[in-house]
Amino acid sequence: MKIAVIGTGYVGLVTGVCLAEKDHRVVCVDNNEAKINQLLEGQCPIYEPGLRELMAKNRERLCYTTKLSDAVDFADVVYIAVGTPALPSGETDTTYLESVAEGLEECLPFNDYKVIVNKSTVPIGTGNWLKMLIGPGNYDVVSNPEFLREGSAIYDTFNPDRIVLGSDSERALGVMKRVYDQYDCPIITTDITSAEMIKYAANSFLATKISFINEIANICDRVGANIDEVAKGIGSDSRIGHKFLNSGLGWGGSCFPKDIASLIHTARDYGYAPRILEEVTNVNNAQKLLPVKKLQSYLGVLKGKTVGLLGLTFKPDTDDLRDAPSLVIAKELLRLGARVVAYDPVVQCVDDDDALDLKQSIDDVLSLSDAIILVTEWKEIVSYDYSNSNFSGVFVDGRNILRQQSSNFSNNGITYVGI
Ligand code: UGA
Repeated sequence: MKIAVIGTGYVGLVTGVCLAEKDHRVVCVDNNEAKINQLLEGQCPIYEPGLRELMAKNRERLCYTTKLSDAVDFADVVYIAVGTPALPSGETDTTYLESVAEGLEECLPFNDYKVIVNKSTVPIGTGNWLKMLIGPGNYDVVSNPEFLREGSAIYDTFNPDRIVLGSDSERALGVMKRVYDQYDCPIITTDITSAEMIKYAANSFLATKISFINEIANICDRVGANIDEVAKGIGSDSRIGHKFLNSGLGWGGSCFPKDIASLIHTARDYGYAPRILEEVTNVNNAQKLLPVKKLQSYLGVLKGKTVGLLGLTFKPDTDDLRDAPSLVIAKELLRLGARVVAYDPVVQCVDDDDALDLKQSIDDVLSLSDAIILVTEWKEIVSYDYSNSNFSGVFVDGRNILRQQSSNFSNNGITYVGI
């Protein structure tokens, strides 16, 4: 089929490239000319494992443009995958979506039937609002929420647990089933509003699971129980499951924080106080600062000490720093008068943070630091042999990922501290 994808961020670009791999002809559109030029030269503007190779493999079926109307003229199905960041109030900023709607309003009335698919995570009700903004025309709107994770976006796109399609048009749903006819997973069809809610509820539930296990970890810490064993014990109950029960320094990223804030905002708009979601966020905010509290309890005053952060991105295998716990930790350490040095395998600079001293290697950070916080579990950071390094201070493992090696750490004079 002929498909246009508007927006070439993590969701848009991965969606476009993966649809091309499934034999569709795809035009990716972005109003950022520099990004489109990069794509036309075969470069990938984001760090996502496997994406550049898949782009190259499917270059015959993929093209890139800044001209929205050309892409819409070409396509039977038009995906919208533009950013929907959070405003300070928690409300979603739909400016990008509105400008896409304006563009569609201009070109849709003169075209054959199209399906407009919303893949951006949008406040509940946006599908219907889009129809209002675009106005009359020969098209239908479908909500098709995205469940891919950064870092494993391609695997997730090709191996979904389910595909959710929300629309009141049987014709549009029929077209979308053809788009996904090579996928071997359940297709759940709903009305638009329910599809939009599924996205928010899924992310909120996953974040709740993490905040829950972090709360249990904090109680374990006080009573002397081992959270890894507790997580294994409860995760073996098939009603609970093992996934998303890794305790650590909290969740971040471009999705969970903004989606939960947005759902809280919507709930309040409709007269409901979402107490669980609010506490899930509060637990997470406190969790991000837990490594600093641990350092204070081991080192006393942090003023004048050098603390090394290993890993800055909100999770491994991405270059995304949005709402990364590392930034909150660095800010708090700097406020307390510590010097902060850091290493991340892909981050070369941190906007607005001149005080964060980025180093080129783990060795550089270890040699300068009185204490280390392992923030992001990059493979390079996890597989490093700390017990044979020159470092011998406090090592806070913010992901509880090196606990098995803690006895080697103590042989080398390192004080290993888990969550
Ligand atoms: C999340 C969802 O998992 C995707 O299904 C969804 O499509 C995506 O948001 C989105 O809305 O676009 P993502 O933010 O890429 O994906 O990353 P996750 O792997 O879900 O991790 C989110 C955060 O939770 C990270 O900071 C991670 O370190 C943390 N986490 C995850 C834990 O602290 N413990 C865990 O057990 C799992």
